[in-house]
This record gives sequence, structure tokens and C-alpha cells, in this order.
Amino acid sequence: MKERALPEKILVAPAWPYASGPRHIGHVAGFAVPADVFARYHRLKGDEVLMVSGTDEHGTPVMVSADRNGVSPRELADRNNAVIRDDLRNLGISYDCFTRTTTRNHHLVTQDIFRTLHEKGYLVERSALGAFSPATGRTLPDRYIEGTCPICGFDGARGDQCDNCGNQLDPVDLIDPRSIIDGSTPEFRETTHLFLDLPAFAGRLEEWISAQDTWRPNVRNFSLGLVRELKPRAMTRDIDWGVVVPVDGYPADTKRIYVWFDAVIGYLSASIEWAHNVGRPDAWREWWQNPDARHFYFMGKDNIVFHTVIWPAMLLGYGSGGAFGAGRGDLHLPTNVVASEYVTMEGKKASTSRNVAIWVNDFLSRYDPDPLRYYLTAAGPETQDSDFTWEEFVRRNNDELLANWGNLVNRTLVNAYRNFGEVPKPSHLSDADSGVIAGVAGAFEEVGALIDEGRFRAAIAAAMRASTLANQYVAEQAPWALVKTDRERAATVLYVALRCVDSLKTLFAPFLPFTSQAVHEMLGNDGWLAGPLEYRVVGEEGEPAHEVLTGDYASWVGAWAPSELAPGQKLQEPRPLFRKLPPETVGEELERLGIS
Ligand code: MF3
Ligand code: ZN
Repeated sequence: MKERALPEKILVAPAWPYASGPRHIGHVAGFAVPADVFARYHRLKGDEVLMVSGTDEHGTPVMVSADRNGVSPRELADRNNAVIRDDLRNLGISYDCFTRTTTRNHHLVTQDIFRTLHEKGYLVERSALGAFSPATGRTLPDRYIEGTCPICGFDGARGDQCDNCGNQLDPVDLIDPRSIIDGSTPEFRETTHLFLDLPAFAGRLEEWISAQDTWRPNVRNFSLGLVRELKPRAMTRDIDWGVVVPVDGYPADTKRIYVWFDAVIGYLSASIEWAHNVGRPDAWREWWQNPDARHFYFMGKDNIVFHTVIWPAMLLGYGSGGAFGAGRGDLHLPTNVVASEYVTMEGKKASTSRNVAIWVNDFLSRYDPDPLRYYLTAAGPETQDSDFTWEEFVRRNNDELLANWGNLVNRTLVNAYRNFGEVPKPSHLSDADSGVIAGVAGAFEEVGALIDEGRFRAAIAAAMRASTLANQYVAEQAPWALVKTDRERAATVLYVALRCVDSLKTLFAPFLPFTSQAVHEMLGNDGWLAGPLEYRVVGEEGEPAHEVLTGDYASWVGAWAPSELAPGQKLQEPRPLFRKLPPETVGEELERLGIS
């Protein structure tokens, strides 16, 4: 690995969840959990992390859902922003600023980029065929149209993209197009839009993507395929919900900016908002106009094109222009675009519209966040689709998390607490003692490097192996027997075991922040190892206030380094970290899902 100056400036950019409805566990497996593991690790390591995102509230996804719910897009966005924000907080996703795309700041930044790209000639007017509903005469946005994918033949592809093969589509290309509102066949009529001149960036994009040797191969190869056949893409839409187009001839009551154009800008605008909220208005530049910073994006695979092609093209086109760039350095391109495959549920593709999904808030109403984070990491859809089954969830909770890490914590702490009440003072360390301390300490480098590479499954497996090592040591040394025969040796063994547990709580902290905090406290430590999150009401004068999800991560006492546990430290009464889930759980949950 390349030596990097410390501390590094790391931008963690999780994709913006649509405010069209609550999110299911497949969604958070792609954008939220891996991003949070990454951010927490880098903060513990001492890097300066900026993790920004928010709800994606414009465009037809929100309009379609608002129509279905009989409310305005704004009302629906307000409601789901709150629901999603709660879910993410309850999952412990440690954003520095989780905001929304309906803020004035976001609109200003989006318009600045749009205007700059237009002035530079990268947004060009063209007429195209737009879909209209024959019944109402109104325009029919891409997402209101479904049909058969011309590329893979999947029936149920949307006008803008096919969720089966991940390709970008144009509604005119769909076979058997139909309106999802009334099933009628759309009429295609001439309409004018501003198109992003993607072919103008093809050479630079191809060269840039080819040079990315840290990306997952599927992301890199898919993106290279995309840049070899770039066409201009419309960045305006015939709708009235979205950012107003800052160009003459595009009246706000009929045309708005395309939702994906504004959503990807959210990473930048939320960084600018964060800087404003912390009272250092230019601080965002240290991440965005600093070539030494590293930027990591996290998402599901259907988002790849927007992050490896469209957003980079927009960034290249903007350069250091506009009011926000202000000639102070080119905006940073993504360092890595960490895209996940899909999570299926009991072998079926999750579907928001058909309500085949396990919703995060429902899940967390019955189970703790760490076992879910564990499952979504250990069985994560990193390089291939992964299936969530309740049987496997129960097994991983009981036989892995609880049987290995939970059991180590429990038996070590219970013995030490009952017999010593404090961290016992060790005497001479045997080879076995030093060996296990060194073995667990050695995991820091391995786990850290794997997280930095986006290899989260391997990273958590390495942390689990370190826990196994400590478990084996405790089983061999049997301190519960020693306390009766050789109290001095028991003290040494328990000291060594507690020190391993203290190291392991840090190794697990990026993945399992809630239970790591509990271990931290049971060991008699003070402060926040790596937490907590909080809401803060913010807003500029003249706009409605909004709440952001944030946290005071600078006060973390954790550090990515082996334990130096002090003998004599008072222990707290231990309590179990994980609940054993009874086998009936599986049947109950399947019934809830309507699967027998
Ligand atoms: N809202 C999109 C989705 O859920 C993701 C937007 S990511 C962003 O698939 F970068 F565009 F914000
Ligand atoms: Zn397809």
C-alpha cells in the first residue's frame, strides 16, 4: 500500500435515497452500511472524514409516489425524509450532514453548475421525442412508462432504466410501452431539452476509468463499456417538480432540471452546507479542491452510470468554474465508486412497488441494529447478488456473532468482574499470553487495509478470526478453573483476555458500533468509543428550517490501535451483547412476509 500523509481528508459519499418511500434492507446494504464501516474506520484511524448525503426528493420517483398516496410531492418528501433519517440514525450511519435536496443551498449549487456547463457549451439544446398521455394530454415522465427492455428483454423495465440489466434507456426504445397510471400506450411528441454533451468527455472519461486499478472489476468494466457508446443525455424534463432551469426559455411551470443531475450535485452541495453549519464556510474546499483528498462513493449497482460517467463529466466540465468553484481548483473526481450488487429476499427480488421487502424500520422494531449490520456485511452483495433469508439471519446471529464474539466478551467479563471487579494485574506473560496479544494486535493492519479496499466481507471475517484466536486462548487457559487453584495465574490470563477484548471492540467498532460501545463501557472506559449521532435543526434565513442528521465525531475516544488496557480499572457489571434468537423466529418472520 502507498504511504499516505496523515491525517488524510476522506470524503465518504453514500448515494442519496429517494424520498419516495421507506428504504428496505437491500437499499441500506448498498449505500449505507458499507459507507459507514468505511467512514468509522477512517475516523478511528485519525483521518478527517466528511460523510455527506441526504434524501433525493425531486423528479418523477417522488411525483409518482406522491400521486399514489394522494399528497403533494413536497408533503411526501417531508414525510419520507423524516422516516429515512430515523432509519439511518437507528442503524448508526454516521453522517456529518444528512440533508435533503429541497434546501435553498442545494438549488443554488445545482443552478450554478447547470449555468456554468451551459455557458461552457456542454449543455446543448436539442429536440427529442417526449412521451405524452393520450388520456390527459399531460407529459408522461420516463418513470411513468414501463415496457420490455430492448437490451435484455426484461418486462418491467422503466422508461429511464432497466433494473434487470442496469442499462440506461430512452422511453421510445421500450418494446410495448405503457403508462403505469392507466396502462394506455403513450404518444411520442417533439419537445425541447438541454442535453449534456457526454461525447465531449468520452476521451477523458475513458482514460480516467482505465487508470482506476482499485475499483471492483465489475464497476470498471461496466463503466468502460458505457463510455464507449456515449450519447448526449437530456438534463431537463417536462415536469414541474425539481430545480428550476436557470436558462431562458425554460419556464418553471413546465420544465425542471432532471433529478439525477441535481442528485449527484448533492455530494458537493451537502459538503457546502456542512461547512456552513459548522461555521467554517470554506472548509468544504479542503475535500473538493484538494488533489490529495480521496473520495469514496457507495451505492447499489443501478447507480453506477451516474457516478462513473455523468457526475465525473459534470465535474470535468465545471472544472473550477462558476460561483462555487471560484477559480480555486478543479473539483475532485471520485477515487473509488464502490457499487454493490443486489440483495434478494428469500430468493426473490425485492420490490418496493409489490411490497416484497423487509423495511428497515420494521426490522429494527424487533431486532437490534448490529446483527443486521453484521449480516449485511458478512453476507454482503459485494461482487455478486446475495440472498437474505431469515434462517441465515438467525444462524449468523446465534452461531457466529453470539457464539464467537458475544461469548468471548461474556465469559471473559463475567469471570473478571465476579472474581476481581477490576482489570486484574498481570504477572509474568507466557508465550501463549504474548502470542494471543500479538495475534489480535496484528489484525489491525489486515482489517484496516481490507476496509480501505472496500473488501468488507473479508475485513469482518478477519476480525472474526481474531476473535476466534482469543476464544481459543480462553478455552485453553480456562481462567474459570484457575481462579480456584492459582489466583495469580488467573489474574494474568484474564488480564490478557480483557486486553484482547478491548482490542477487538475497536476492530469490530466500524461494523458493530452499538455493541462495541457497550463493551467499551463494561471494560470501565469512559466516553464515546465511536458515537453517537444527533439531529440538528438548521436553515438559512428566509427558508423553512430543516433537520440534519449529524454527530460530534471529533470527541471519539477510540483509536485504530491495539489496546493498552490499564490494570486496576474498575469493570462494570457485564450484560449480554447479543440476544439468542429462538428457531421459531424464522417461521414467524416468513409468515409476516406471506411466505409459508
Ligand atoms: N436516489 C437514487 C436511488 O435511490 C440515488 C441517488 S444517488 C445520487 O437510486 F448521487 F444521485 F444522489
Ligand atoms: Zn434490461
